[in-house]
Amino acid sequence: MTDTLTILGLESSCDDTAAAVVRHRPGETAEILASVVAGQTALHAPFGGVVPEIAARAHAEKIDHCVEEALDKAGLTLAQIDAVAVTAGPGLIGGVLSGVMCAKGIAAGAGLPLIGVNHLAGHALTPRLTDNLAFPYLMLLVSGGHCQFLIVSGPGAFKRLGGTIDDAPGEAFDKTAKLLGLPQPGGPTVEAEAALGNPKRIAFPRPLLDRPGCDMSFSGLKTALLRARDGLIAENGGLKRVDRADLCASFQEAVADVLAEKSRRALLQYLQGGPAHPAFAVAGGVAANRRIRTALEGVTADLGVRFLAPPLALCTDNAAMIAWAGIERMRAGLTDALDLAARPRWPLDQASPAMLGSGKKGAKA
Ligand code: KG4
Ligand code: ZN
Repeated sequence: MTDTLTILGLESSCDDTAAAVVRHRPGETAEILASVVAGQTALHAPFGGVVPEIAARAHAEKIDHCVEEALDKAGLTLAQIDAVAVTAGPGLIGGVLSGVMCAKGIAAGAGLPLIGVNHLAGHALTPRLTDNLAFPYLMLLVSGGHCQFLIVSGPGAFKRLGGTIDDAPGEAFDKTAKLLGLPQPGGPTVEAEAALGNPKRIAFPRPLLDRPGCDMSFSGLKTALLRARDGLIAENGGLKRVDRADLCASFQEAVADVLAEKSRRALLQYLQGGPAHPAFAVAGGVAANRRIRTALEGVTADLGVRFLAPPLALCTDNAAMIAWAGIERMRAGLTDALDLAARPRWPLDQASPAMLGSGKKGAKA
């Protein structure tokens, strides 16, 4: 298909209700005409994690307002939209259903094609939305819900090289913050505290580095952190500011070391395929961490690979990435019928064994 496409995207798989309109003319970088995200952080805050029923209700209440706002901001009506793309999984099923039902209603009512998008494909294709990046590239998705390496070689072609077998790194940051009495989300607060501390003071484990491959594990780190914290409290009769800063810095250093070494292994595997323009892209909230980003940049520089990190608003959950994945699928002739199913689990790479674990934000894949 060589025509200009303007697609409405919907996202509701976790705790952000989002709608966006993206336009793409062949040969040009895509244009985000509108991107609306309504977060639910305050609704879930008293429970220390995302409550699926509360999330589903909030999505159902907000999604049509988000769609209206996105169309208004884009200055368009449904008559000027070419298709509706929606996250059809993986994620919390009540939320996914809210989006899928809304998208089906719009598609049926306005006579538009419907496109079901895998949420992880949305993240994984974002460097093409922002930078027109050529296939194949290596992707690290690293957030509060995801952690995996993917070779992306087409709109529906993903090879998973490895991922976390338990918690995602963002969850580990959030739990660390909780254990140390720092505000949520834990990533930014632990990073700020770490800046004041000594990363070498506490020798935290580097899980799974002694084993070959690109799988990772972060759940043991929080146990180690709990023990180290309690040890310091027993020693000093309380946790001093400097101790808390050293715990944060040492924890962050362990996560950065694991991600850097596993990225190096994933890159070597990716480079074996002889990509013409080798590139490594990161997405997800944890990619905002400066220490981790510097560690990953260092690895790519050593191997002569281009490093890309899309702007944070497009790294975290949003609907522009879903609209973009919809454009890619539509150009590949991949649209869906009105019986499109909502899927709580939906691995991107069907050939790889299923990922273990299901974090506070739902299924890992
Ligand atoms: O991608 P995201 O907004 O949502 C999903 O998890 O899908 O990522 C949020 C996660 C949270 O766990 C948060 O603590 C973490 O990303 N995060 C960070 C930083 N900023 C956000 N982790 C480490 N350092 C940061 N600066
Ligand atoms: Zn996500």
